[in-house]
Amino acid sequence: MKKRFLALLCMALAAGWVHADAGDIKARRQYMKEWRGLNKKMGDMLKKSDAQSFPAREFAALAAQLNETAGEPWKHYGAGSNGSGSDAKAAVWENPQAFQAAIKRFNDAAAALNQAAQRGDYAAVKASFGQVGQSCKACHKDFKD
Ligand code: HEC
Repeated sequence: MKKRFLALLCMALAAGWVHADAGDIKARRQYMKEWRGLNKKMGDMLKKSDAQSFPAREFAALAAQLNETAGEPWKHYGAGSNGSGSDAKAAVWENPQAFQAAIKRFNDAAAALNQAAQRGDYAAVKASFGQVGQSCKACHKDFKD
């Protein structure tokens, strides 16, 4: 599903089919804000717990939410959506392969976190939560002002 979506996105970007406007900028930023909230909640849970007291079910619900929306913001990066009011760097449109690679890194990390969380595997959750954070940072470094 994700692969098919990415293929479609690439085609759409190349063909300039995606209609982009201020609504796109708002939509993609809204997802990012949601993720910041989810990330903060998950980070706090990990900080305040250990393997015994880890609130596995609560954490798993948040990880699932992140994973379910992991493919969404990227639909809103069509040609021409590099407008004012956006912090996206021109590199998003100038270097689409690298942007896709950063998306994939994040998607893979979010999926791994979700799997670990659904299993209630505390050690794996900790490790993959770190990977998710790294993937957010890595993309922002190259693609966000
Ligand atoms: C593949 C690239 C990529 C990944 C992965 C990514 N971001 Fe972003 N993020 C962006 C871009 C680009 C912007 C700027 C969007 C704009 O202003 O148009 C942004 C903006 C943001 C903002 C500012 C939103 C606002 O309106 O003030 C926050 C907060 C944020 N990201 C959090 C996160 C978190 C947390 C993660 C990981 C869970 C994450 N991002 C993963 C590319 C990414």
